[in-house]
Amino acid sequence: MKRQLLVTAALPYANGHIHLGHLVEYLQTDIWVRFQKFRGHRAIYLCADDTHGTAIMIRARQEGRSEEALIADMREHHVRDFAGFDIEFDNYGSTNSPENRRLCGEIWASLRKAGLVVERDVVQLYDVQAGTFLADRFVKGTCPYCGLINQYGDSCDNGHTYSPADLKDPVSTLSGTTPEVRRAPHLFIELEQLHAFLADWIGADDHLQSEVANYLNGHFLGEPLKDWDVSRPAPYFGFEIPDAPGNFWYVWFDAPIGYMASLAEWCVNFGEKFDQWWPKSAADGKSDGKNNDSREIHHFIGKDIQYFHCLFWPGMLKTAGYRLPTKVHIHGFLTVDGEKMAKSKGTFVRAATYLKHLNPSYLRYYYAAKLGPRLEDLDLNLDEFVTKINSDLVGKVVNLASRTAKFVEVTGLSAKYPDDGGLFAGAAAEAEAIAAAYEACDFNQAMRRIMALADRANAYVDQNAPWQLRKDPTQASRMQDVCSVSLNLFRQLAVYLAPVLPRLAAQTGQLLGRPIAHWDEAQSPLCGTPVAKFEHMLTRVEKTQVTEMIEESKEQAPAAVATTPGMPGATPQTSAPAAENADSGAALAAEPLAAQITIDDFTKVDLRVARVVAAEDVAEAKKLLKLTLSLGGDTQRTVFAGIKEAYKPEQLVGRLVVMVANLAPRQMKFGLSEGMVVATGPGGKEVYLLTPDSGAVPGQRVL
Ligand code: MSP
Repeated sequence: MKRQLLVTAALPYANGHIHLGHLVEYLQTDIWVRFQKFRGHRAIYLCADDTHGTAIMIRARQEGRSEEALIADMREHHVRDFAGFDIEFDNYGSTNSPENRRLCGEIWASLRKAGLVVERDVVQLYDVQAGTFLADRFVKGTCPYCGLINQYGDSCDNGHTYSPADLKDPVSTLSGTTPEVRRAPHLFIELEQLHAFLADWIGADDHLQSEVANYLNGHFLGEPLKDWDVSRPAPYFGFEIPDAPGNFWYVWFDAPIGYMASLAEWCVNFGEKFDQWWPKSAADGKSDGKNNDSREIHHFIGKDIQYFHCLFWPGMLKTAGYRLPTKVHIHGFLTVDGEKMAKSKGTFVRAATYLKHLNPSYLRYYYAAKLGPRLEDLDLNLDEFVTKINSDLVGKVVNLASRTAKFVEVTGLSAKYPDDGGLFAGAAAEAEAIAAAYEACDFNQAMRRIMALADRANAYVDQNAPWQLRKDPTQASRMQDVCSVSLNLFRQLAVYLAPVLPRLAAQTGQLLGRPIAHWDEAQSPLCGTPVAKFEHMLTRVEKTQVTEMIEESKEQAPAAVATTPGMPGATPQTSAPAAENADSGAALAAEPLAAQITIDDFTKVDLRVARVVAAEDVAEAKKLLKLTLSLGGDTQRTVFAGIKEAYKPEQLVGRLVVMVANLAPRQMKFGLSEGMVVATGPGGKEVYLLTPDSGAVPGQRVL
């Protein structure tokens, strides 16, 4: 049966560049959609930029341009990066589009009509200088429960959760000022009204991987679902809510509707009907959660956003009477060499940087070889990456063609397919097992099966050594046969790999004079057809290329903003949260600069060179070291600094640092802290003290 598949990948935030982590998803989805098209189904791959929210608004302000100019610029980067990796969207839209505004209005009206929207006051911190309410991640302060300093507005490193208004000594990360507590009305969706429906949908029909369904059941569905706050008061970059002027839909309300808006755009461009692809679920406008025809809707997302896609989104669709997703496919997160991607280590690699050094087919294949159907993190091991590409793609696959094509350039392939001992037929018989693995998103299994076929093909070529036969003119016909087998086995592999390696499929089509356009082409060999001159298909990867890419990524780390880790009143590094328009590293690139100050403001801060004369561990504190600093002569200060994970006390004694010498002393649990030392870095192990050049003297003013 011919299926019709509407497939989406999560919409990347417009405030960050595409990086290797994102590519796990966009490549996984691209491979799946290409596979479906290749099997003869009708499939479309839709995506868009996710453009709204506080982070974009703040960044545009900092950069002195409009939000529209910023998102237009980022869109160009995103589109170029995706194309560079052969990711082929049928439509790439934007959540800031008229279609999206219209669809948001329609779905909103349904939610209102169903009585799901309620209004309640929310107490939030307000930055008077920046003129905006502060999302949780734009405020830092001391945990009201355990006294841990320099913590975000929603939770502390010790796991306590609280509301930002309860944070002690809060500081806005936008302006460095103390925010005010203000009250504003917000609109909420009472998700609990949809509890029974969601429990049913989550448990039924394989809509989710079993581990995801178990997680949602265990974490959310066992108790009443919390109301979802879907409005934000002005100023906010987004769509104003038509029946609540001065309020805007929260970015996560309009983002998934962006899938539909992208579809609407595609329909206009290609003369298709929206409701043929995203139908209303039943005549009465009610959705039963089951799809009874061959039209499917698939979302691919990462594990960090499952809550939005598996609870809110089905709830919105159900209420508006739209077809529910057939399946939400959820993948894990990328680590590099076993660790979270980090700019300081150069493992936070942007898509564009990768493309400067390496062929996109390498990453497509490597991710395919690592991706399974389960929600598991996957590791990009840089040594394994090099070995795998060289041994599998170059050594096993391309080698079949490069070792034999040139010998039959003149004669072409044998007129009749030679006896190959059942190799071609055996590989043809694998088609359905490989297809089933692709279908189940078990690309790892598909790649293993394909490489096992490649091993058999290479054994055949080794045994029949066409390079030997070539030396003997009486063996010309046998040599042509051996090469014909080898090239047909190679072509079969190229067919099976086509969803992963479209470039290789195109090159193979050129070499053998017949484009590869359908999965079934692995079923019959080519005979009597010409062979073109062999052109290089894929070269070996050198470790130096990888090293250079990592080095360049290190250089790209953003200029650090001075911060005093672990100390009160610090100007912290901001990285906005998943829920407020950023993904960890991507957001760092957009780190807002603090509000402008005058030279008089600056000179109020008395920065001094100091020498560490003693340093000791504060055993009861997770992050603190106690430093005794000399400011020259007899002047000494005690400072508790949050640098324990980055430095051992003995590394510090004797070194020069920069300190804020006129900060009001602060009584801490462990003693009086009489200033701060100046450092940079995101925190934890990555804290770097700023050191004056040699020649500086303790007590000197830093200007
Ligand atoms: N804008 C939201 C999605 C809205 S969908 C209606 C968002 N954007 S994102 O840019 O942060 O992430 C886009 C996708 O990339 C998400 O599915 C996310 O899980 C995925 N990834 C981002 N970083 C990732 C890794 N490091 N590893 C694997 N996937 C990652 O979330």
